[in-house]
Amino acid sequence: MCGIIGYVGRRSCPSILLEGLRRLEYRGYDSAGICILNQAGLEIRKRVGRIDAGLGRLCTERPVDGSTGVAHTRWATHGPPSDENSHPHLDQSGRIAVVHNGVIENYQKLRDRLAAGGHQFHSETDTEVLAHLIGVHYDIICRQPSADGLHPLATAVMAALREVIGTYGIGVVCRDHPGVIVGARRGSPLIVGVGEHENFLASDASAIVAHTQQAVYLNDYDVITLTAEDFKIANLGSDTAQAQIQQIEFSADAAEKGAFPHYMLKEIFEQPRTIENALRGRIDREEASAKFGGLNMSLAELRAIDKVVIVACGTSWHAGLVGEYLFEEFAHLPTEVEYASEFRYRNAPLDKHTLALAITQSGETADTLAGLRESRRRGHKVLALCNVVGSTIAREADGGIYLHAGPEIGVASTKAFTAQVTALVLLALLMGRIRMLSAQRGSQILRALEALPGQVESILAKNEAIRQLALKYSKAEDFFFLGRQYNFPVALEGALKLKEISYIHAEGYPAAEMKHGPIAMIDERTPSVFVIPQDGLYEKTLANVAEIQARKGPIIAIATEGDQEIAKKVEDVIRIPPTLECLVPLLAVVPLQLLAYHIAVARGCDVDKPRNLAKSVTVE
Ligand code: M6R
Repeated sequence: MCGIIGYVGRRSCPSILLEGLRRLEYRGYDSAGICILNQAGLEIRKRVGRIDAGLGRLCTERPVDGSTGVAHTRWATHGPPSDENSHPHLDQSGRIAVVHNGVIENYQKLRDRLAAGGHQFHSETDTEVLAHLIGVHYDIICRQPSADGLHPLATAVMAALREVIGTYGIGVVCRDHPGVIVGARRGSPLIVGVGEHENFLASDASAIVAHTQQAVYLNDYDVITLTAEDFKIANLGSDTAQAQIQQIEFSADAAEKGAFPHYMLKEIFEQPRTIENALRGRIDREEASAKFGGLNMSLAELRAIDKVVIVACGTSWHAGLVGEYLFEEFAHLPTEVEYASEFRYRNAPLDKHTLALAITQSGETADTLAGLRESRRRGHKVLALCNVVGSTIAREADGGIYLHAGPEIGVASTKAFTAQVTALVLLALLMGRIRMLSAQRGSQILRALEALPGQVESILAKNEAIRQLALKYSKAEDFFFLGRQYNFPVALEGALKLKEISYIHAEGYPAAEMKHGPIAMIDERTPSVFVIPQDGLYEKTLANVAEIQARKGPIIAIATEGDQEIAKKVEDVIRIPPTLECLVPLLAVVPLQLLAYHIAVARGCDVDKPRNLAKSVTVE
């Protein structure tokens, strides 16, 4: 939810931390703060609002310098966005500063106890309570040093965390220990960037990749002590903690906007490559099937699966819905797609032959993670379709498929969706080919998949025309997105994209469901976007078009190139190349992303950082 970064080394670090925060701003942008440890002690700057307008300006007005520090960008949970509630937070003595991503669930109880002991709090946050708690334990350790061989600050952090219920990724500095940062994680991501005479702590690799390509992905309950030359890991749950240095798989450029005005637009335009990357090395032409390196399941185990349950949130859930159609069509596998937030509390009667599939871009979504853990507890095999390497879900699943989409920074998910659907097509193909799907059909699907990158390019070439259309419709206050079968999830995704970045009310429906109620909303000011390729239900969807037109609703059609009929029936048409019905979502979603993007820009919205949202939802 929030982003944290820490630096310890020989360089002046405020600008490194500020730059890192800018790269983490997608995780939360209610306020930002920095704490530098120097001869003066702890110097804190923090301010409500976006980084450049708030903290950045403050650091120009009141510069600070030093070569150890921690910083934070906030998505508010406990306490509204304000200077006081911004991180870092200090302990009672003012010696210890903490930045935190996560939620301390028992903070009220801890706060009451500390307040009864005379502690005074200056914010409404759970994080300040944690800072005070660390301070209490630090005082004890200063009086009676422990013989655990750990740094005293790390020992104090560990003692405090033993009292905490909740999730955390934290960075802690103490005035008494220049050149030391202690970090810890449980449920919120935290990595260590390993440099030459410098080390970093960060919520994700994009914040540090400009400085180092070497990272250690911390495990839950790890507590790390960082100095410029070294790092030491302890674990709250076990005596041994492992540190494996891994290569960050993308470059600093991949996390840059480049020539694009927004990350979202850049990521939309990356989709031909995204699809190529998701396909790379996974096409098995000989078997007319797909192959994966990391499923960790034999073909016999895959064959024994008799049901699939997909657990995901948001856009990933929409990709999962496409997966439902795919598994059923290709492999005749009954498939259920569950909102992770519902699934985790349901008592779904699934047997041991059920495959659970967690779909997630970030690999950190709290509800999806809880769904994965619930599935594993019941003994199901869990596979993850995940983009972020080393993320919690990727590590906790029994196996999975990395999307290789590169960092997705725009809060509105775009290229992750196309990568997820591409991976789902491949997985469904494999599941189909070890059941009843013919080699001929398998080859046909593979050929059509390989044509997709070029076809997406051809849709992207219509960007300007779609922008013009967006200008025409940008004043609408309500939108419908309609499609059938494979295109129903696309309709849902088109509506989500529009509402989350433009704040226009938008709903996605199966096209034929409109007449059961929602059609009451239709009038001349309410546009409907129909995804209407020339597929088996084309004529029937045309009838749904007529129903909307009869109520004077303007219609934009996403239709197949060469379809002459549709242009006569609707106001505006965006054409997509012909492909197999099962692959249409991968093409049809692209104009919908562009339409949402351009409408949001026309309305002056901050498309990369929509209000109230954060990229990774790591709280329940
Ligand atoms: O990282 P995940 O794929 O698990 O995230 C799931 C949703 O939070 C995410 O797709 C969200 O709905 C996006 N803002 C959609 O654009």
